Amino acid sequence: MPGHILNRMLDFRRYDRERVITTAGWIETEDLNVDSESKRHGVRYGGGATPWLTRETLDRIPVDFRDYSFIDFGSGKGAVLFQASDYPFKQIFGIEYAPELHEAALRNLRSFRSKTKQCRNITSVYADAGSYELSEGPWVLFFDIPFGVPIWQRVVENIQRAPRGEGTSYLIFMNYGWLPDAAEYVQGLPFLKLIHRGDTVLTFELTG
Ligand SMILES: C[S@@+](CC[C@H](N)C(=O)[O-])C[C@H]1O[C@@H](n2cnc3c(N)ncnc32)[C@H](O)[C@@H]1O
Repeated sequence: MPGHILNRMLDFRRYDRERVITTAGWIETEDLNVDSESKRHGVRYGGGATPWLTRETLDRIPVDFRDYSFIDFGSGKGAVLFQASDYPFKQIFGIEYAPELHEAALRNLRSFRSKTKQCRNITSVYADAGSYELSEGPWVLFFDIPFGVPIWQRVVENIQRAPRGEGTSYLIFMNYGWLPDAAEYVQGLPFLKLIHRGDTVLTFELTG
């Protein structure tokens, strides 16, 4: 195994160990116990968002997170929810359609220990992202290559229907290079303004 991949795996495991959670590892979509049409558009669990990249991305957003809800669409075992808890979000939600991953997230929520935690209101929701109705914004909407365009289209309809609240909302698309069709679709959405393009992360403001 190449050294940089091994180091990355060891970093994930250390991150987990220090916080008394288990999020590292991969599970292919066909091995997940999902009973939904959406499964054929879903991306496997794992290889997810790295804590340092999530931090770098959130640090670039110039708002007071105390008024904001953070939502991870396709949250797996909750890794990104724990990363986001280093910021003082009003609430943090993870939406996951695989029951065994949602259960793992609930176990992690119970065991999670952190000296840097600034948000205690963290919830894993067992739901299909395509049918999740957002509560009032403002939001930081987070996507780490969870699914293909047909599910994005349903999520976008729900975003547009939901009350935005006071303040600019943001959308983060991590590892976009792995899903070129979805990346093209998202970059073409008229209500998104790209504010930062990194090698692996796109960050947008929601407009109009
Ligand atoms: C690449 S993983 C990302 C996990 C997590 N966000 C992270 O970065 O560690 C993609 C996740 O999306 C979930 N997923 C795929 N399609 C979904 C859908 N329609 N609704 C909810 N979750 C979905 C998968 O089960 C998987 O846990």
